[in-house]
Amino acid sequence: MRYRLTVIGTGYLGITHAACMAAMGFEVLGLDVDADKIARLNAGELPIHEPGLEPVLRRGLDSGRLRFTTSYEEVAAFGDVHFVCVGTPQKRGEYAADVSYIDGAVESLAPLLDRACLVVGKSTVPVGTAERLADKLVRLSPVGAAAELAWNPEFLREGFAVQDTLHPDRIVLGVRSERAEKVLREVYEPLGDVPIVVSDFATAELVKTAANAFLATKISFINAMAEVCEAAHADVQLLSKALSYDDRIGGRYLNAGLGFGGGCLPKDIRAFMARAGELGADQALTFLREVDAINMRRRARMVDLARELAGGSFHGCTVGVLGAAFKPDSDDIRDSPALGVAVAIGHQGGRVTVYDPIALDNARKAHPELSYGESAVDAVRGAHVVLLLTEWQEFVELDPEQLGGVVAARRIVDGRNCLDAEAWRSAGWHYRALGRP
Ligand code: UGA
Repeated sequence: MRYRLTVIGTGYLGITHAACMAAMGFEVLGLDVDADKIARLNAGELPIHEPGLEPVLRRGLDSGRLRFTTSYEEVAAFGDVHFVCVGTPQKRGEYAADVSYIDGAVESLAPLLDRACLVVGKSTVPVGTAERLADKLVRLSPVGAAAELAWNPEFLREGFAVQDTLHPDRIVLGVRSERAEKVLREVYEPLGDVPIVVSDFATAELVKTAANAFLATKISFINAMAEVCEAAHADVQLLSKALSYDDRIGGRYLNAGLGFGGGCLPKDIRAFMARAGELGADQALTFLREVDAINMRRRARMVDLARELAGGSFHGCTVGVLGAAFKPDSDDIRDSPALGVAVAIGHQGGRVTVYDPIALDNARKAHPELSYGESAVDAVRGAHVVLLLTEWQEFVELDPEQLGGVVAARRIVDGRNCLDAEAWRSAGWHYRALGRP
């Protein structure tokens, strides 16, 4: 049987999942409570920047297999399998995750279900959420246990969302019945030979948080080494390169720099600590506090380095900031290290002008107090210090001579260790980087 799928929540995850499932041949109905977003999606317009996604979306719409709605009634009537992809942001003023959107999705859908179906959580949640939602689903659905829950965490990265969805390195299925496992195996069958791990709910939920905690730890490990390198006049780039040849360590997520941001890693490690605390296992994750602290210290160090180059104070100083997104190939500015640094320098009296190839509109909305340039050259015009904070390819390829012609002083801090230090120095720039002499 070809199941009809629905996708509830159209953020980075939901849009990608919906479009890719349609590309795999399924009929898919996406839902969001934001009518404006739904109208744009139905018109083939992406509300986010995600390379390669728009053509997949458009092909889905053109084929007639993909459409979007704001109606839970329609979703309940349409779907055999309902994927829940809503956000679980950090609670304001707390470490814990706000799971109200996911509870809201189940509460809206469940009472409308009139036949057997599978509700599949994909959002990142505190362990124990699936068990709670499974009870809620059965309690609220008129068909009782015929509406079943499963947990199927998502590992896609922004910037590579389509690739990661169509070619995942593993699929994790948290299920309570053979029926649920069978349905999900059939759904993912078109992806071919992908390792599948079948588990209980709690393990499936934990795989996701553990994976993000590991990645965050790896990044903070190399950034801690960068701190030591700075103190010992060593070079973290060479250190990282040498470590990477050890297969047991590997070179991915070992790039030292301004550290991690975005809508996932920072809030996920915090929510993980909060949940472990509730479970009485807080000691097991106290190291994540350090991982978080190392990460945040990189931003502070960047501000210090910029101030040092500015001559000890930002007063009367113009700072050109290259990058606003939390990483290249994304317009996402959630917990962006780049913007964090820009805002901090503004608070300390610097005149900051920011440029980003894609994330400028989002940055402008979130931080109207900063100035924005229309290009890299525009943003650094008259600058006493230039900061490279997001490693967009366009910045990596900047010509130090050309840029040198418009700045007030040739001083640059490479926050992502992505520039050719020699090329910049020989063009007369005072070049500094995090974790390097
Ligand atoms: C992350 C995970 O990589 C995905 O597997 C996961 O599915 C996703 O979170 C999620 O939970 O939804 P993402 O937030 O898109 O994906 O970003 P990453 O590509 O992992 O980068 C995170 C941050 O780490 C960025 O700010 C990046 O600049 C930084 N980073 C990454 C480093 O500072 N150094 C590195 O070596 C690698």
